[in-house]
Amino acid sequence: MSLDRPGRLRRSAAMRAMVRETRLDMRGLVQPIFLVEDDALAGAIPSMPGVERIAIGQLEREAERLRAAGVEAILLFGVPRVKDAAARSASDEAGVVSQAIRRLRERWPECLIATDVCLCAYTDHGHCGMLRGGAIDFDASLERLAAMAVAHAQAGADLVAPSAMLDGAIRAIRAGLDAKGHRELPIMAYAVKYASSFYGPFRDAACSAPAFGDRRSHQMDPANGDEAIVEAAADLGEGADILLVKPGLPALDILRRLHERWPGVPIASYQVSGEYAALVAAAERGWIDLRRCALESLLAARRAGASIIVSYFADRVRDWQEESKG
Ligand code: PBG
Repeated sequence: MSLDRPGRLRRSAAMRAMVRETRLDMRGLVQPIFLVEDDALAGAIPSMPGVERIAIGQLEREAERLRAAGVEAILLFGVPRVKDAAARSASDEAGVVSQAIRRLRERWPECLIATDVCLCAYTDHGHCGMLRGGAIDFDASLERLAAMAVAHAQAGADLVAPSAMLDGAIRAIRAGLDAKGHRELPIMAYAVKYASSFYGPFRDAACSAPAFGDRRSHQMDPANGDEAIVEAAADLGEGADILLVKPGLPALDILRRLHERWPGVPIASYQVSGEYAALVAAAERGWIDLRRCALESLLAARRAGASIIVSYFADRVRDWQEESKG
């Protein structure tokens, strides 16, 4: 590329394609699925138009739809019927996520099934761990998280994704999995999860908003960047195989720093519910082009160094790319 005329290589579509550095394909894209045990909760999520909560009975049809859309990986979030202070249903081997994995395994064997490992949808107070005296009870919570990961592993999950951001969770989950013979099951750790305001629609979707207080005591302060390196190093040290950074666009600088620091470690970006909702809402008003803006955001995550991207748009990417070609 010439220093005085870089534009020479941009003059035709074929030329631009030839020198393009980053490509977005279905590999590495992960579609989240909200699975509800209570059929009455199935259906549209008002703050996330285009995303639905799926009941177990609808799972086969949903899997067929996603497979036809070219999706190769999914991330399961369970919404149990029963919530209690100890999040008991989280580690139930007959729980909603375990049931779903067993059904999917048979029908869609080549799909990569990842599961969310966090207690917020399973506790009656909506916090990510069990509480004692108003604060997170770490010992009890880590034990429950490890048991939850084991339940998913027994059901046949390919990857577990601990998202609670509780100190020591990766070590506890790794030890729990190893003890039950799941040494080869990788962990995708939400190593850097900011206490972001972009998670609002997700909490509607997963019925997991905290009944009081917030998550600032364990999720990271969005003002901090160097601290993210400490968090990521800690998770790697505890046995994380993949590091996840969340939210997506607002934290791409951090994702890039992790990528440069550990070039061989796969890094995932999570384009979260609020980012999704903002794009969809602006497009509904006719203010932006949804397809172009969504694809550009996903491409930006790739360019920053994400090999994996979790996105509620994953099931539309292949069709959109076909359309952009035509
Ligand atoms: C916690 C979890 C959350 C998200 C993923 N896992 C919510 C939270 O931390 O409050 C948010 C994802 C999104 O906003 O799309 N289990």
